[in-house]
Amino acid sequence: MVSLNKSFLYGIGFASITWTISLYLYWQLNKTNSLGFSPTYSSIQDVSKSNLVFDAPPDKTVSRSGNYVNSPQLIKQLQSIRRSKLLNKHEKGLDELGMVKTVEDQRIRDEGFKLHAFNVLISNKLSLHRELPDTRNKLCKDIIYPTHLPVASVIICFYNEHFHTLLRTIHSIIDRTPKEFLAEIILVDDYSDLPNLGFNLTNFLNSNYELKQKVKLFKTQRREGLIRARMFGAQKANGKVLIFLDSHVEVNVDWIQPLLARVYNNRSNVAIPIIDIINADTFAYTPSPLVRGGFNWGLHFKWENLPTGTLSKPIDFINPIKSPTMAGGLFAIDRDYFMEIGQYDAGMDIWGGENLEISFRIWMCGGRLDIIPCSRVGHVFRRRRPYGDPDGKDTMLRNSLRVANVWMDAYKDYFIKERPDANNVNYGDVSERLQLRKRLKCYDFNWYIKNVYPELTLPTDSDVRLKNKWSALERDKFQPWHTRKRNYVDHYQIRLSNTSYCAQSTKDSKSKGSTLFLKPCMRSKNQIWYETDKGELVLQQLLCLQSGPTFPYLFKCHEMGGNQEWKHKGEDKTPIYNMAAGTCLGVDRIHLGTKLRMQLCTNPSLNMWDLVR
Ligand SMILES: *[C@@H]1O[C@H](CO)[C@@H](O)[C@H](O)[C@H]1NC(C)=O
Ligand SMILES: *[C@@H]1O[C@H](CO)[C@@H](O)[C@H](O)[C@H]1NC(C)=O
Ligand SMILES: *[C@@H]1O[C@H](CO)[C@@H](O)[C@H](O)[C@H]1NC(C)=O
Repeated sequence: MVSLNKSFLYGIGFASITWTISLYLYWQLNKTNSLGFSPTYSSIQDVSKSNLVFDAPPDKTVSRSGNYVNSPQLIKQLQSIRRSKLLNKHEKGLDELGMVKTVEDQRIRDEGFKLHAFNVLISNKLSLHRELPDTRNKLCKDIIYPTHLPVASVIICFYNEHFHTLLRTIHSIIDRTPKEFLAEIILVDDYSDLPNLGFNLTNFLNSNYELKQKVKLFKTQRREGLIRARMFGAQKANGKVLIFLDSHVEVNVDWIQPLLARVYNNRSNVAIPIIDIINADTFAYTPSPLVRGGFNWGLHFKWENLPTGTLSKPIDFINPIKSPTMAGGLFAIDRDYFMEIGQYDAGMDIWGGENLEISFRIWMCGGRLDIIPCSRVGHVFRRRRPYGDPDGKDTMLRNSLRVANVWMDAYKDYFIKERPDANNVNYGDVSERLQLRKRLKCYDFNWYIKNVYPELTLPTDSDVRLKNKWSALERDKFQPWHTRKRNYVDHYQIRLSNTSYCAQSTKDSKSKGSTLFLKPCMRSKNQIWYETDKGELVLQQLLCLQSGPTFPYLFKCHEMGGNQEWKHKGEDKTPIYNMAAGTCLGVDRIHLGTKLRMQLCTNPSLNMWDLVR
């Protein structure tokens, strides 16, 4: 009975995860802008009102702008790096690490997704010292930085972080930061309640001399939220520069020097690394394109293409790139400057809005904010935030109201129009922040828009002005991604070995969500799967096969790998393995009309397939 209950609960976990995935994809794929332009990057990347997708990565498709990630040679090179260099020699391939081999594996994986929204089965098995592909532009390697850069305190706040992933964050910093630049790593445990997390962490830090020297662990007395936890960490810091990082990141080669050099150059410079993508399903590390931070009138952060002409010479790919806002998780700032400009708004709760607040404040009060392309830090992009406010309040809305009322002058009306529900929300007392703004003699929001973010579209813009603003941002130089030609490398029927049954969609092959069943093999179109160079299986070149928690089904191709990435041996009697699910395509019995499901890859007669060409 107990076990029945348990599996029922896991089922719910599964269902809600799938839902968020589909929502994420649906939302990514269906959004168009009001002008009817083909969806460009900025239109698809608006962070939606739901915080399920708060952390959407900069879309890889934008790599099409700016030649950088996009040059075919580089992609090729990265793919080969990805295969050969991503892992320590002693490790197996990432795909194998993700393989669910036992019921216990499945439990760890499911529970991990519920708690952390990423694949802890893989994270647990990955080395704490794994190598990463060096995703920097080649020119970065020629830069010589001053030897007497200021030292940094790295501040990492966390709440119920996955233990192994947090350790990898810490080790990546220790392993890839020259000792002379690292004063300390300050860990702020924001009142986590996972049993033994603190105990495990203390044990771990005490087990190693270097960690014991460099890492300081603090715990707050109650749940403070990201914003106050960071202020708490900053108070404890001794370094001249503060570098805030998330707790599920891995820093890349020579990541710290470019940030420190930028802050050293002028203490009012705030520096942001490029945030590379660690896939939450597979932990594969891939580079992000050069994009910058913007926002919309719902006060949601969004990634956005660079202004046209920003990248015209090779040197532009390594020079600082002005950014109107920051995503918030990762940045470097002079410690005294951070204090002078008012740290954070301590009246904000848990999470949300603080990144726009500090971005506006930096620009409006005499500083500047730039993305530093030669500094790269990988970040696990989750599809949803696995925790919220303890009381279930919408802290994002309340915090955004504080931002609007302190910094946005008359422009706050645009926010209120976008979020009429904000009218009934009590956002607390902001008088101190208003005084701060006065004391620092900050520019007004109109100045910010004119000088920092002229490309921002206003609700009052005429069609002509809107079109001009759109054209001021680089467009995808290639075809829009959803119509881009896929690169097919093979096609075949998928036949259950030793039978004459093939995988066919239950509805017609244009139906999203259609599951698969066993049908007599026929050379009919709805049994022909086209394999792409990304490991996708596209039925009739229309929809991609996607793994679900229990059943695989057809869905729009999203080109993000993971649940649409399939591996096989390329010959008869092969399992067909899904990268995100860690399980294989199979059936529970050999019978006409049996539905295909996701299964442990262990039962040869029920999950071996022939690829019939
Ligand atoms: C603490 O460590 C034990 C033993 O390694 C492990 O089983 C447990 O999951 C850890 N707990 C947390 C919260 O990381
Ligand atoms: C530092 O940057 C600020 C703002 O960008 C600028 O006003 C100031 O002149 C700079 N200071 C120096 C020493 O370059
Ligand atoms: C298929 O049939 C052959 C010969 O009958 C047998 O040796 C083999 O084990 C079968 N394979 C599977 C996957 O059932």
